[in-house]
Amino acid sequence: MQYAIKGGNRLSGEVQIGGAKNAALGILAAAIMADEDVIIDNLPDVRDINVLLEAIQDIGAEVERVNRHEVRINGKNIHSVHVNGEFIRRIRASYYLLGALLGKYRKAEVALPGGCDIGVRPIDQHLKGFRRLGAKVSVQYGMVVAETKNLTGGHIYLDVVSVGATINIMLAAAMADGNTILENAAKEPHIVDVANLLNSMGANIKGAGTDVIRIKGVKKLHGTTYSIIPDQIEAGTFMVSAAVTNGDVTLKNVIPKHLESIAAKLLEMGCTIIEEDDTIRVIGTENLQNTHVKTLPYPGFPTDMQPQITVALSLAHGTSLVTESIFENRFKYVDELAKMGAQIRVESNVAVIDGISHYMGAEVIAPDLRAGAALVLAGLAADGITIVDDIKYIQRGYEDFDEKLRGLGAQIEMINDDHDLRKFLISAV
Ligand code: EPZ
Repeated sequence: MQYAIKGGNRLSGEVQIGGAKNAALGILAAAIMADEDVIIDNLPDVRDINVLLEAIQDIGAEVERVNRHEVRINGKNIHSVHVNGEFIRRIRASYYLLGALLGKYRKAEVALPGGCDIGVRPIDQHLKGFRRLGAKVSVQYGMVVAETKNLTGGHIYLDVVSVGATINIMLAAAMADGNTILENAAKEPHIVDVANLLNSMGANIKGAGTDVIRIKGVKKLHGTTYSIIPDQIEAGTFMVSAAVTNGDVTLKNVIPKHLESIAAKLLEMGCTIIEEDDTIRVIGTENLQNTHVKTLPYPGFPTDMQPQITVALSLAHGTSLVTESIFENRFKYVDELAKMGAQIRVESNVAVIDGISHYMGAEVIAPDLRAGAALVLAGLAADGITIVDDIKYIQRGYEDFDEKLRGLGAQIEMINDDHDLRKFLISAV
């Protein structure tokens, strides 16, 4: 499947931002830890979420999709701690089932995680955490097996700031015997969201959102009703859509605090930003200015926004530097962007971007989720027609991406074949 885009329209209007995919993944895993109903609202309807829901249903959890954005989960009939579906291997967050099952049943066997190919993605810190809680952990035939009779609280220091390890250890420690102190924890908004959900299920977690998290283990978790926070990265992507099209876009249902690092960079580039309670408006400019960006753990600039901001900086006057400090392999999309006229050199983990006046439409391939979204943004800004191939990656994390963009005046369609393309070309004005 592909997106066909006719660029050049200034995007304007309002767009509703959905629930945070990466919070939802941790939250769904946490939900199976109770033997009562956990009702989750503001769930994004994207592929990674649906794969995880299938996986937890597979091991016996009740999963009822109340409506597109609400699900009821009940973990009381879970009959297996072995998770090895065909699809679960392709998503990264399968590893959260390790923490959840180990915490609840003292045993978990989960296929090693896949996910976007953005660099080597070890899970040593997750495993180190489980071991510190007393689990025996081994990797056997592509499965991680973690097991113990006594899961006990412990003092854990993370050697690298890891979102996944922080959430995973929090999940297991929530039901361990005794107290856990997790130091050098990640501080992303989704860490806080998973901790809030767990606390609303009866867990005792303090300090989420700071670099020291204290967890008092509890024997049981109970049912709850919970609404997921808005997606920081979906929001950021739409903010950049306004910047690259000299548009005027208002994002609804956001937490502006989570968007500060992105807003700061767009301001430096000359955009106007107007924040209200749960909306943020981005007004573009004809004269985008260069700036420098370095990806860092929250509250730094998110690595998941690196490709999108690079697309915008490529349209700015002067030379910009983008330093990727989280994942070493996250510049693969630059070759695709070059087909559209971008002038970017990558030296180690730094992209040196010489601004161009405009992109030219081209046929490009989405190498991963965020880079795929970034190529769509370039297509919206480009002269002529852009085809973005392999949009299955984009569908992992953006709900109705094309429809939301059309709502802002973009000309974009999902196409399957030449017939669809011809239809699009005739209708595009
Ligand atoms: C999460 O991945 C997100 N995925 C990623 O989003 C995001 O890019 C990343 O956090 C950083 O914000 C999910 O939440 C499902 P990390 P995660 O553990 O948890 C190293 C998207 O597009 N590390 O914070 O896998 C690691 O190699 C995706 O939505 C270890 O060395 O990332 C990396 O350099 C892509 N050992 C750094 O830490 C470990 O045990 C941060 O990784 C774990 C991580």
